[in-house]
Order: sequence, then C-alpha cells, then structure tokens
Amino acid sequence: NLYINISEENKMKKNIKLIAATVVAMGLLASPIASAKEIVIKFSHVTTEATPKGKGAMLFKKLVDERLGGKVRVEVYPSSQLYGDKAVLKALLLNDVQLAAPSLSKFSKYTKQWALFDLPFLFKNPQALNCFTDSAKGQALLGAAERKGIKGLGYWLNGMKQISANHALINPEDAKGLKFRIMSSDVLKAQFEAVNANPQKMAFSEVYNALATGVIDGQENTWSNIRSKKFFEVQKDTTISNHGVLEYALVTNKRFWNGLPTDIRMQLDQIVKEVTAQVTQFALDAAVKDMQTVADSGKTNIHTLTDAQKEQWVSAMKPVWAQFEDQVGKDNIAAVQQCNAKN
Ligand code: LMR
Repeated sequence: NLYINISEENKMKKNIKLIAATVVAMGLLASPIASAKEIVIKFSHVTTEATPKGKGAMLFKKLVDERLGGKVRVEVYPSSQLYGDKAVLKALLLNDVQLAAPSLSKFSKYTKQWALFDLPFLFKNPQALNCFTDSAKGQALLGAAERKGIKGLGYWLNGMKQISANHALINPEDAKGLKFRIMSSDVLKAQFEAVNANPQKMAFSEVYNALATGVIDGQENTWSNIRSKKFFEVQKDTTISNHGVLEYALVTNKRFWNGLPTDIRMQLDQIVKEVTAQVTQFALDAAVKDMQTVADSGKTNIHTLTDAQKEQWVSAMKPVWAQFEDQVGKDNIAAVQQCNAKN
C-alpha cells in the first residue's frame, strides 16, 4: 500500500510538472501569436465614396495600410451599406464597428451639447466653424459623448446647408406648410417650425425616394450631399441659404480605442489628424465643385437671396437659439460669435 501510494504521488508530481511546463510553453507561444493578430477597424458611414467623408474614410484606410499594414486592417462600408443613421451608433457601442462619422445632428441620445452645431445662422462660414472646432472650447466639446462610451477623435467638415423644394423658397412664408426632411435633431425641428413648415425626421438613405414620390416636399443639405444623392434631380428649386452647417464627429468605441496597444493608438491618432486636415480641403473643394455640377445640370433652379430676403429668414429662425442656449452653453455660442467676427 505504501509502495502504491508513493508511486501515485510521483505520478501526480510528474503530471503537475508537465502541466506547468505546458502552461509556460503556451504562454511563450501565445504572446507572439496574439501580437501578430491583425486588428480590424470597420468604418461604416452613409454617404458615397465621392464625398468629403467618403474620401476621408478611404484616405484613412490608405494611410493605415501604408504605415500599419499587417498590424491593422481598415474595412470601409460607405452608402449605409452596413448600417444606417441610427443603427451605426448602437453598433459602435457593441464594438461591431469601430469608426463612424455621423453628422453632429444625430447624437441627441448621447449628448445634448452637440445640438449647438444645428442652431440656424450660428456659423457665418466654414472658416468660422473650423475656428470654433479648433479652439479650446471646441476641443473640449469633442469629448461630450465620452460618458456614454463614444469617443470623439476629430471634427470632419462637410459645409453649409442649402434648402430646396418644388417651388422657389425666397421668403420664409414660401416654406409654410411644406414637409421638410430633417436629420434627427430637435433644433432642426424647431428651425422648420419657426417658418411654419412641417419637419419630418428621416434617415439619409430614404430621402431621395421620399422626395421623388412626394412623401416630403423639401430638404436641407450641403452641395456635396445634394449632388451625390441626386436630390437636385427631384427638386425644382434650390436656394443658396447657407442657413446651417453639416459637421461630423469622427467617433470610435472608447473602450476599443483605449484598449489598443499604445504605439498603434499613437500612430492611428496621427493618421486621424492628417486625414482630418485633408477632409477640410475635400469639403471646401466639394462646396464649389458640387454646386457648379448641380447648376450645370439645369435640373433645379438655383436662387440667390438679397440681403433683405436673407434677413427675413434670419429673423424668423434665430429665435430658436433661446430655446436651446442653456442646453448647448451660452459660452459656446459666444465663442462661435468670436470666430464669426474673425472670419
Ligand atoms: C444627412 O443625414 O443629411 C447627412 O448627415 C448625411 C451625411 O452623413 O452627410
């Protein structure tokens, strides 16, 4: 019995040694394998590739391929192919996608502060918008959705919004009773109610059909989106109103980003910085070229407002600010106004 017990004990000791050695060996093997595993970043967005955002996403992919190929792979899904407006932020929080760049108008569930960007006639021009987003206040605001797990990596510009319908919109009264598609923003809702119109929240991917079939009468968007989504083909009249801005937040899942190996995260941050600067240029160019393309098509009449006409739109819509100034911060509004004065 004693003999048997000793031999059992030896066997057990041997087994333990064997298990320990295997664990060590696995550990040695596991670390190079784990670090060799490619990190996949899915970037889902709703515009076509031939837009400032679409080009920005492709440039991001290109620079990551060049500098981090083998370590990080970017997959870009444009045109609401993978996720539309609402679903993308949910997918981001589930880490099913890692990058998105929705309009700041689409984040009301995650932060009320980004509604600042929707205030009608707040930003004088894209330069004033960039001045604000580059400022200390603008940079602080980029972190507004972090509490909800959404990390802002940068602001991406699209540009100034124009307004269109199937009749000329010259005075605010011309918008009365018309159904306008809006992004999911209560500021934009209030803006159209201020001119007695009927705003309808709707996903970007549905706008063309809704215009074509008369489900809605009009819409507001930038020249880039009016051109790339062909809204001008189904709107007889477009007014150069420049009444609002379309600005994106390039966002990621905070836990995913913070969990990246430091050296990789630093390189990605650098790439984001470079791409963001390029997107500004893409957007400024698109505003000019796309307006020209739309004008040349002859499919929509483009209307320019006199100063007096523009002033009427301003006085009809600007009272909306008072409803939202506590929510978006009077100090932020004041900071934008300083940028307007400089630009
Ligand atoms: C819209 O919904 O009109 C825009 O936000 C689409 C976009 O991403 O430019």
